[in-house]
Amino acid sequence: MKVLVVGSGGREHAICMAVAKSSQVDKIYCAPGNAGIAEYAELVDIKAMEFDRLVSFAKDNCIDLTIIGMDDPLVGGIVDVFEAEGLRVFGPRKNAAIIEGSKAFSKDLMKKYGIPSAAYENFDDPEKALEYLETANMPIVLKADGLALGKGVLICQTLEEAKEGVKSIMLDKQFGSAGNKMVIEEFMTGREVSVLCFCDGTTIKPMTSAQDHKRAKDGDQGLNTGGMGNFSPSPFYTEEVKKFCEENIYSKTMAAMKAEGRDFTGVLFVGLMLTPDGPKVLEYNARFGDPEAQVVLPRLQNDIIDVINACIDGKLDKIDLKFEDNACVCVILASDGYPLKYEKGFKITGMENFKNVPGRYLFHAGTKFNENGDIVTNGGRVLGVTATGKTLKEARANAYEYVDLVDFKNKYYRHDIGKAIDEA
Ligand code: AMP
Ligand code: GLY
Repeated sequence: MKVLVVGSGGREHAICMAVAKSSQVDKIYCAPGNAGIAEYAELVDIKAMEFDRLVSFAKDNCIDLTIIGMDDPLVGGIVDVFEAEGLRVFGPRKNAAIIEGSKAFSKDLMKKYGIPSAAYENFDDPEKALEYLETANMPIVLKADGLALGKGVLICQTLEEAKEGVKSIMLDKQFGSAGNKMVIEEFMTGREVSVLCFCDGTTIKPMTSAQDHKRAKDGDQGLNTGGMGNFSPSPFYTEEVKKFCEENIYSKTMAAMKAEGRDFTGVLFVGLMLTPDGPKVLEYNARFGDPEAQVVLPRLQNDIIDVINACIDGKLDKIDLKFEDNACVCVILASDGYPLKYEKGFKITGMENFKNVPGRYLFHAGTKFNENGDIVTNGGRVLGVTATGKTLKEARANAYEYVDLVDFKNKYYRHDIGKAIDEA
């Protein structure tokens, strides 16, 4: 069969790698992809939001299955557009992807169906939001309602900071129209865990857990980023926590979406915080995480095409999801200065060290071919150096060994990805 993957980051690289392992797949295309993805897929020069062009490409090239990796096209309704043309596609429809597209929607859903999450209020009037803050406890969390590249969340320590935050989200539109509405939420403490779940509209099957590192600098300092590295599984996601989440979060979310007439098919990303009062939902995303996919998919033992087909056909209950009994760590190599200002266009060396080494992966996030055919840096997050190991400690040592083998000017990375596991 022929598969088209839509997206261009490390997540889509990991998806293409998993799809390439399937004996059912003869040919993979990726639109628009990146230089690393070219190892598995033919790159197609169409952007993820060009729905009509993607549909035409899928028809002209007899694509059997399209997998949507990114949030923007999902929230924008790409699945509906493909389905209307009779094309087979994996991801939630627009009316279900809203679970990521609107934080106000997801908070209301959780409240209505008793899914544990932080206390909150939604606002579409900045004056009312400012008034509410006067009597609220600090710290407090402000969230732009819409998509904001994972950056639309402000954690404010003081009333002044919170007032500034409301102004920058709702009046100055720091995150554009994502800030037309906002959520003001109780500040929670605890460890964070990400759990990606396959969903067929009725059945939900959680994958192995992962833990992201969102801050730019060692010791969880610096600005929030799209993610500087992560590991899987999380030792803090115990059997007890898992059982609680299965009973109180995953199945309840599926049932809630169904009850709302918004059956969710695709991958539901549940961002959890393990608070002193038990696990609570921080956020939902309507897709694989990035870089969560990079540590979860290398451990997936099933043929991903079987699982995706089961999701689309409503037969996920027939699938027994299996993950390798090992661990995986991904360290992001970024351009120094990310997430603010950084230079790009630098040649990357040492990539050949990963070739044909089992359990070592170099997922490309922001790379491209230059006019000489060399692979150069092309973004804030550049590469995800990923390694498996029998234990998390071994995987971490393996990942950092390989971090030293690949180089480019202004290479920047955190040195403490997975350090938390020492406390487990
Ligand atoms: P989100 O995009 O909603 O996951 O938020 C991004 C990050 O902000 C999360 O990964 C947390 O680290 C932090 N965060 C979000 N909501 C809260 C909250 N209610 N309390 C504490 N931290 C939060
Ligand atoms: N790693 C967080 C995300 O994919 O949104």
